[in-house]
Amino acid sequence: MTDDKLMIRALKGETLPCPPVWMMRQAGRYLPEYKATRAQAGDFLSLCYNPELATEVTLQPIRRYGFDAAIMFADILLVPQALGADLWFETGEGPRLSTITSADDLARLKPVDTIHETLSPIYETLGRLSAGLPSETTLIGFAGAPWTVATYMIAGRGTPDQGPAHALMHSDESTFKALIDLLTKATIDYMLRQIKAGAEVLMLFDSWAGSLKGDAFDAFALQPAKAIFAALKAAHPDILLIGFPREAGTRYQGFAKATGADCVALDTKVDAGWAAETLQPDSCVQGNLDPGLMVTGGPRLISETQRIRDAFAGGPHVFNLGHGITPDADPGNVDVMLKALRG
Ligand code: CP3
Repeated sequence: MTDDKLMIRALKGETLPCPPVWMMRQAGRYLPEYKATRAQAGDFLSLCYNPELATEVTLQPIRRYGFDAAIMFADILLVPQALGADLWFETGEGPRLSTITSADDLARLKPVDTIHETLSPIYETLGRLSAGLPSETTLIGFAGAPWTVATYMIAGRGTPDQGPAHALMHSDESTFKALIDLLTKATIDYMLRQIKAGAEVLMLFDSWAGSLKGDAFDAFALQPAKAIFAALKAAHPDILLIGFPREAGTRYQGFAKATGADCVALDTKVDAGWAAETLQPDSCVQGNLDPGLMVTGGPRLISETQRIRDAFAGGPHVFNLGHGITPDADPGNVDVMLKALRG
């Protein structure tokens, strides 16, 4: 027996009678209380940099649903902003950034050790959450993985196939690699501060890992994650780490061992039976439920929740979605999922 919280126990490798549960993007536009607080802040970025209101929106889904983990409210694109990139959000379209397409653009970014000037409100949010969360709730910090963040910095926006980033990788490999190295260093510094501020678990979002193949996957998804995780574990041997190489397909195999992740987050395309056999012996697994079911609900939400729970019942498991919950989700469907999971 241990006094650890359920989420910590699962991440440490314990098989539990019912898995701990949280949802990616659990603080978000599907919740009316989120929309109200966001309106109070003015806009999304102002909300991210307001510790009082960012704490409030982080706590909203915990109050409503009693999730086992709270993820700090922030965004993966705050790191490029802290490095000096311009960042704004176009309503209904998504993020826009000033672009990095040459060695000169890269040279204009700020030194890594200055990022904390911009990011200090995030550490304050974590401090407030650490003091204010229920004792059974685990506090998760996060960052974007270097490749995924680089895809936004190079293109200046989200792209369907990460074409501009692949193009720079091939046309100016040294600038591309220097950007990945810079982001790797910044991510380590950022996450170390998150741990100091109270984060108990860190998740690295590599949302576009699926567009890297072969050697490029090794060099720009696996190696940066390994370097980041090794630096964090060297300073904090007990810190718990979740990797999310979204849509990595067969490259999920061996990812946890190669990077040192305690847990690997699964997208919706991974077959749960395959993952239970192939991935779960190496690490805890998290995720896999289709977020579309939170929109449609019904008997299929119940059966899919139970299918995933049962597939992973033989090993360490954190229940979650395979990607973020969407603004059109029905908040009532989250209750349906929780009842199916725990009932
Ligand atoms: O999960 C959580 O609740 C924690 C907060 C969080 C946000 N973004 C808040 C957010 C986390 C962990 C992220 C990660 C993130 N941000 C990723 C990786 C995960 C993924 O979704 O693949 C990426 C690629 C981003 C970049 C980003 N931020 C995009 C592409 C967008 C626009 C898309 C959209 O949903 O509008 C955002 C905005 C964003 N980040 C919102 C939230 C709640 C919506 C902003 C709003 O309120 O209008």
